[in-house]
Amino acid sequence: MSTPVTMSTYVRCLSYGLMRQLADFIDPQEGWKKLAVDITNPTGESRYNQMHIRRFEAFVQMGKSPTCELLYDWGTTNCTVADLVDLLIRNQFLAPASLLLPEAVRMAQEVTLPLSSQETLPIHEKQLPVQEKEVASIKPVLAQSTEKQRSAPFFSQENSSPQSSNTGFHNFSFRDLESVTNNFDARPESAGGNKLGEGGFGIVFKGYINGRNVAVKKLIAMVDVSVQDLKQQFDQEIKLMAKCQHENLVELLGFSSDGAQPCLVYEYMPNGSLLDRLACLDDTPPISWNTRCKIVQGTANGINFLHENNHIHRDIKSANILLTDTYMPKISDFGLARASVTFTRTIMTERIVGTAAYMAPEALRGEITPKSDIFSFGVVLLEIITGLPPVDEKRELQLLLNIKDEIEDEEATIEDYVDEKMSDWDAPSVHKMYSIADRCLNEKKTRRPDIKMVQQHLQEIKIS
Ligand SMILES: Nc1ncnc2c1ncn2[C@@H]1O[C@H](COP(=O)(O)OP(=O)(O)OP(=O)(O)O)[C@@H](O)[C@H]1O
Ligand SMILES: [Mg+2]
Repeated sequence: MSTPVTMSTYVRCLSYGLMRQLADFIDPQEGWKKLAVDITNPTGESRYNQMHIRRFEAFVQMGKSPTCELLYDWGTTNCTVADLVDLLIRNQFLAPASLLLPEAVRMAQEVTLPLSSQETLPIHEKQLPVQEKEVASIKPVLAQSTEKQRSAPFFSQENSSPQSSNTGFHNFSFRDLESVTNNFDARPESAGGNKLGEGGFGIVFKGYINGRNVAVKKLIAMVDVSVQDLKQQFDQEIKLMAKCQHENLVELLGFSSDGAQPCLVYEYMPNGSLLDRLACLDDTPPISWNTRCKIVQGTANGINFLHENNHIHRDIKSANILLTDTYMPKISDFGLARASVTFTRTIMTERIVGTAAYMAPEALRGEITPKSDIFSFGVVLLEIITGLPPVDEKRELQLLLNIKDEIEDEEATIEDYVDEKMSDWDAPSVHKMYSIADRCLNEKKTRRPDIKMVQQHLQEIKIS
């Protein structure tokens, strides 16, 4: 018989089963990062720094739960369930807090009413129809739609829903998108399904509309994310994308907001993500050095466009660099971006987003500055040169960005790391690209170049 959990129970004494249940709530959407940055030592300093967070993230690659690992580690300080519940409530993780001390959560809700008040808040410049007002809790609300599949699999301007008057994008009905994605068939393409991939905010499906392939991203609401929050993010992405049209940014074709989940419809990128192509996933051929150089230049042009328009991407990574049939790069996912009023001001947020392996030290602390995009781009440059993934638990240097220290200490040269899968590289251009990466990866944001400088340096690399 396990002993009942009380306020004074040590976190380190929680049962494995209970830890797992907590993790089911906190692992999705990297909720554990939010907790990790909020945990302090008795001195009031953050217990976990950038390296710790990256180490926890590496557990994901090993199939382990970063939440469990975080709690095991924090548990060694003899923290109690009261401390944990406090942390969870502070960070709006009410469902897992209820698992531990339901009474405490009820009391906290009575005092602050965080959930019910969210429901009555006006949605930020509401433009889209909002049907659901409930808060998504307990489980991800990626529910199978119960609506019947529509009989007409094809629709045109005439028979689909009206255009959005605010954005000029096509306003699809959810049922139409269901229909063109074979009822959101989540089997991979190789197994006859429509799934192209999956990320932090939803699953991406391949669809076919008016003789054209498209990518449909069905956004999911996860634990502790209200449907309103999700729609707000959706609304924001639409507005941002409306302004951001550039040859190196993935084009948004339309959206749907009348169904169980909001969806975004993008142009389809036949060569998938840079991450997958560098890894030659599905036996695709390696990318040549010449093409890699063009990819980094195009990506820098896309980032420059965003920064010129006062947008910080916040999730620059090779999975968000998609490739056309001719390997032209286009940056995707502006959903996490927030327009910054001026570049002289940085915005603090407690919401830590993005992937830790790409994140600048200040981004891990919640600060948002265009210089964090530059740091992330530096990691992408290392991926381009080495062909290695940004994190690999099996590697001696688990984080790719750590090769920088090794090279600095003259234990290795960048040439030792050049991707053997390419034959057309030359030492001067590899050195040039590495020196740009090195500067982008400066721990001090003020010492990193801005995107204009990066573009200039990249132009010095000769490509045919
Ligand atoms: N427009 C598109 N065309 C073709 N494939 C796409 C498209 N958009 C996304 N994908 C595929 O789906 C995968 C998942 O994309 P998604 O943006 O959901 O996740 P992610 O980029 O890995 O992480 P994040 O949620 O942080 O953006 C991509 O890595 C890519 O392989
Ligand atoms: Mg993405």
